[in-house]
Amino acid sequence: MNKLFDIDHKKIVITGGTGVLGTAWSHYLAAHGAHVLVLGKTAQESEPVVDSIRSQGGTANAYGCDVTDEENCKQVAGEIKGEFGDIDVLINAAGGNMKGATIAPDQNLLNSDTEALRKIIDLNYIGTYLSIKSFLPLFLERKVGSIINISSMSAARPLTRVMGYSSSKAAIDNLTKWLAVEFAQKYGEGLRVNALAPGFFLTVQNKTLLTQNDGSLTARGHQIVSNTPMGRFGQPEELFGAIHYLCSEASKFVTGTILSVDGGFGAYSGV
Ligand SMILES: NC(=O)c1ccc[n+]([C@@H]2O[C@H](COP(=O)([O-])OP(=O)(O)OC[C@H]3O[C@@H](n4cnc5c(N)ncnc54)[C@H](O)[C@@H]3O)[C@@H](O)[C@H]2O)c1
Repeated sequence: MNKLFDIDHKKIVITGGTGVLGTAWSHYLAAHGAHVLVLGKTAQESEPVVDSIRSQGGTANAYGCDVTDEENCKQVAGEIKGEFGDIDVLINAAGGNMKGATIAPDQNLLNSDTEALRKIIDLNYIGTYLSIKSFLPLFLERKVGSIINISSMSAARPLTRVMGYSSSKAAIDNLTKWLAVEFAQKYGEGLRVNALAPGFFLTVQNKTLLTQNDGSLTARGHQIVSNTPMGRFGQPEELFGAIHYLCSEASKFVTGTILSVDGGFGAYSGV
């Protein structure tokens, strides 16, 4: 492996490491020599991912961490500090949309669900903030590391219906830039903060919005594919390169960026 992209023995914490994208990333990183610390919402969720990584010869450990619970985040970070001393990378993949926070075509702002909005901001924004805050002491052992937040296409240009999701992902972009500046100024150039903005990947959360039971596209699915110059959804493995790059020395001078992997969606005006 080219040293520039070497992630061998890097200790990588991944929240939401049990989700569709998080599981794929955990396997990929372990297969490339990283020691992956998989954080699901519960340890029971993380164990099968870790068992499967180990059965393929990789190294990983399972933890349970509700990212909206500050005490829980601090306790897990403390446990990992006790066991490993420090970490190299934190990937904040816990997040996503929630049913109640989607504004259906027959709804409007007047009957939108305020509690669902609070919950989605709590998961996507506060959850990312709490993970970073809790794991920061582990990075400060050496003042070196890479934090990777997960943004979305709906951050820069909000998608219809998903107001809370769009707003919380826009806040992730802002937080990413804010912390990139803060950490470089306070701790030097070693601790970087970036975000990955995936385009559209068929996962549990969006499958029913984008595809029918028979696998054909819904009207929204059609709209997305026709606004993606490459004319299709992405495959989770098409995010591996970007994740690997952000974990490695190859992105040493990169901080505060939002890296899109979207088949051209973000560049296309629709005309
Ligand atoms: N799938 C896509 O097309 C797409 C596109 C853009 C961005 N994203 C983002 O990528 C990330 C992963 O998405 P995914 O598609 O793999 O979704 P997913 O639902 O499969 O995974 C989400 C993960 O977050 C975990 N989680 C939920 N609430 C939690 C909590 N309170 N504490 C800790 N963990 C919690 C879940 O257990 C799960 O492991 C999300 O932030 C999502 O918004 C996905």
